Amino acid sequence: MHHQHTLPFPADFLWGAASAAYQVEGGWNADGKGPSVWDSFSREVGRTFQGSNGDVAVDHYHRYPEDIALMAEMGLTAYRFSISWPRIFPSGRGAPNEAGLAFYDRLIDSLLAHGIEPVLTLYHWDLPQALQDEYGGWEDRRIIADFTHYCTALYQRFGGKVKYWVSLNEQNYNLSNAYLLGTHPPAVQDRKRFYTANHHAFLANASAIAAFRQWVPQGLIGPSFAYSPAYAASSSPEDMLAFENAEEFTNLWWLDTYCLGRYPAAALHWLAARGEAPDIQPGDEDMLRRGLPDFIGVNYYQTHSYTDNPADGVGLQRINTTGQKGSTPASGVPGLYKIQPNPHLPTSNWDWAIDPTGLRIGLRRLTSRYALPLLITENGLGEFDQLTADGRVHDDYRIDYLRSHLAACQQAITDGVKLLGYCAWSFTDILSWLNGYQKRYGFVYVDRDEQDCRSLQRIRKDSFYWYQRVIASGGTCLD
Ligand code: BG6
Repeated sequence: MHHQHTLPFPADFLWGAASAAYQVEGGWNADGKGPSVWDSFSREVGRTFQGSNGDVAVDHYHRYPEDIALMAEMGLTAYRFSISWPRIFPSGRGAPNEAGLAFYDRLIDSLLAHGIEPVLTLYHWDLPQALQDEYGGWEDRRIIADFTHYCTALYQRFGGKVKYWVSLNEQNYNLSNAYLLGTHPPAVQDRKRFYTANHHAFLANASAIAAFRQWVPQGLIGPSFAYSPAYAASSSPEDMLAFENAEEFTNLWWLDTYCLGRYPAAALHWLAARGEAPDIQPGDEDMLRRGLPDFIGVNYYQTHSYTDNPADGVGLQRINTTGQKGSTPASGVPGLYKIQPNPHLPTSNWDWAIDPTGLRIGLRRLTSRYALPLLITENGLGEFDQLTADGRVHDDYRIDYLRSHLAACQQAITDGVKLLGYCAWSFTDILSWLNGYQKRYGFVYVDRDEQDCRSLQRIRKDSFYWYQRVIASGGTCLD
């Protein structure tokens, strides 16, 4: 569609930025917090980049007043953050840790005092280690009740002051890493266990949403999905079929289940024939349908192009965690699809395709299929940033990336997409799960590296001033 005029961003559009507890907070054992699976995993040799861990991260736990002051200076109208489950329930369940709840009270109250809408994520991968030890975390149905118990404690405490809630962050990406690639805890490579863990996560998500209706009737809730819209590598029927396979297995498996309450048919059939399908018990489908979301949180970084992959073809491979451009190995699922680099798109140093039009395409696909409002809960560019001699970070590449993606959002709004807001990833620099501090995303540089916490000083990057101007103009000025 070529529009003669683009519509403006809505007046109540949420101009946001995002983070996650493990990636920013630090204070890993402060005030009664229990260990998460990432606290343990990052201590295992060779798991993370240069052994980096979240013990201190960027010390947001202690420096949140300074960070929120910077958010206010920038003009943010929304801040997406996650709550650390083991900060609230150190061993996963039981009685809540008052000091943990009090920390988030202070954080939320400070945001509200600065006119910033909190967007609260219930779960961003930091499962209490105790639940992993006790019953294997997401692999056991007991997680459904424990997750609902945890979420209900947050609804009761914060439901009166937080309107926007994200249930699970990137279940698809996290569990793929955890159970297919073996790169997130518990570092397993087993397809049956993967689909089992996912099924329980879907049920936990639905159960938590059903409880939300009771406790926060005025609020809005939805999962955040790592959405890489699929392209066919060519118009050959074989590639088109590979595209259909990829779309169903990498996107609709999650999106249909969240938003329609049922698994897509061909994928379920394929898995059943291989003994990999989840064990769907009586009442499960009913539970899924009772926990449908109010919006879809979209974490968008890139699209993928797919080509045919024979039954003896290439399998899944680890992603690039070096920043060495061109080092990503060929990857796919035998008999279903193979990822093919898209010759029409530039890539980042981590080989992630830069495709703003793909964002518009994705937003439209979601709107047409599910007719739900959308909230961009993550979008950004991870790059090697340099603190230069003038004490600045000249990240014009990030400005280009964000500008083009916001322009795509505006096109999508003009196409008819109901977009609630845009949370750039990330506000300050954060700890990348597998890339340490070499891969930075923030508007605000944090002075530290993997080995040395240094000053942890906050330094506004050029992109900080750019986004400040965008927000001040209500998005009418993206340049
Ligand atoms: C998303 C996660 O997958 O992508 C974030 O929700 C993460 O937590 C972000 O930091 C970027 O990933 P990476 O691997 O480039 O740090």
